[in-house]
Amino acid sequence: MPEAWWRGAVIYQVYLRSFADGDGDGVGDLAGLRSRLPYLSELGVDAVWLNPWYPSPMADGGYDVADYRGIEPVFGTLADAEAFIGDAHALGIRVILDVVPNHTSDQSAWFRAALAAGPGSPERARFWFRRGDGDAPPNDWQSIFGGPAWTRAPDGEWYLHLFAPEQPDFNWNHPDVRAEFLDVLRFWFDRGVDGFRVDSAALPVKDPDAAPDGRDPYTDRDGVHDIYREWRRLTDAYPGRMLVGEVWLPDQERLARYLRPDELHTVFNFPFLGAPWDAAALRTVIDDTLATLAPVGAPATWVLSNHDVTRTVTRYGRADTAFDHADRKHGMPSDLTVGMRRARAAALLSLALPGSVYIYQGEELGLPEVEDLPDELRQDPIWRRSGRTDPGRDGCRVPLPWSGTEPPFGFGAGTPWLPQPADWKDLTVEAQQADPSSMLSLYRAALRIRAAELGDGALTWLPMGDDVLAFTRDSGLTCVVNLGADPVRVDGEVLLASGPLDGDVLPADTAVWLR
Ligand code: NOJ
Repeated sequence: MPEAWWRGAVIYQVYLRSFADGDGDGVGDLAGLRSRLPYLSELGVDAVWLNPWYPSPMADGGYDVADYRGIEPVFGTLADAEAFIGDAHALGIRVILDVVPNHTSDQSAWFRAALAAGPGSPERARFWFRRGDGDAPPNDWQSIFGGPAWTRAPDGEWYLHLFAPEQPDFNWNHPDVRAEFLDVLRFWFDRGVDGFRVDSAALPVKDPDAAPDGRDPYTDRDGVHDIYREWRRLTDAYPGRMLVGEVWLPDQERLARYLRPDELHTVFNFPFLGAPWDAAALRTVIDDTLATLAPVGAPATWVLSNHDVTRTVTRYGRADTAFDHADRKHGMPSDLTVGMRRARAAALLSLALPGSVYIYQGEELGLPEVEDLPDELRQDPIWRRSGRTDPGRDGCRVPLPWSGTEPPFGFGAGTPWLPQPADWKDLTVEAQQADPSSMLSLYRAALRIRAAELGDGALTWLPMGDDVLAFTRDSGLTCVVNLGADPVRVDGEVLLASGPLDGDVLPADTAVWLR
């Protein structure tokens, strides 16, 4: 693949804790991942993105990083990480790490030093410590995980955390913070890493002392772009490396500002992820995406799922198929047969669009959201911080089923950290490998055809009715997705279909690739 490999790559998201367990402690790790790299190679992915693998107390699944230059011992060692990067590269798979600039762990050396050094110290200036107003916090900001965004230190000062109290926010006005992250990027680039996924990329710049100015006080502040300009300058010194931002913004124009030629290379397309299973809504998102990215010259990304959102099979089987953080629709009934049909069609849709595609582990197996986890095993801080009203994200983080007919389904020798449903015996890699009609077989075939036939040319819509998304790529590959209730007639040589066709008739909730 050329230097700008990320423009059209298929990137597989590895949630390390739940991918494969090599040492039998019930938690996924680098040994497990290394042993399963041939699986990813056969699947046909170009790169993997790993959620944080750094030393962490795991107050937020590793997004509370205690040391940005190390490896969490539960996952392995730095030597294991380097060996993994080498193994992946030998198979032609690139490696993207997660970097978390907005906040750190309350167990990091810097934050522990800040607590110890006390009010007014230079150590505290790297964070947002403030005297409150009597017993009230410095301002009324709320944590994204629920509850106040301020927690009191034992000496009475408050510190800011947009997420959990174990995740104190950095003060990005401080030169130490800026220098530290440049050095961290260098550290991993020097070890061969091909890119970074930038966590909470719209949030680092804020000023809790400023008077309200009518805009969100900590999301998408203009100053944030300076950070990515610096990061881009550094990244450009390493040929073939990339930055992808986690930027949740409903406004595509604002999103495109992160993609100016001297900033991030790509961002996740969350408007696409959030869209309902509806032809008009999806077409609007696709058109808006392509139209807003063209002027900045950035490629689109197509994302259906990740470790923070409801699994697609469950989401698409509900009466309301949109995804929204504010209302995760836990427990809303889902017809998993319908959901599976749509998830299959959505896979072919996203894999045929121009740009790169992210596949969250387990989506290629059609795993559903696990909605009945025992409360006492739930680990997502959202569960506790919401006063046990929002179960949070554990249901999409259940360890993968690899083989066999009962848990742990080849995940590892120990008891998985979250229990797998017994009926996942039909969803194991082993079971699906043997079944040409499985989700896994669909993904494998789609990735093979994509690599051979899709090209990087433009998309041209074909008029086939309001409930149908149909387009041709310059390469000649045509994708037709029937989102309506009525069957539609299609014309051409069928390369791949998400479900059975009836002659030349494409049934509801089905997609086809034609030549
Ligand atoms: C976004 C990550 O994807 C999510 O898992 C995490 O909880 C927050 N950022 C905070 O780091």
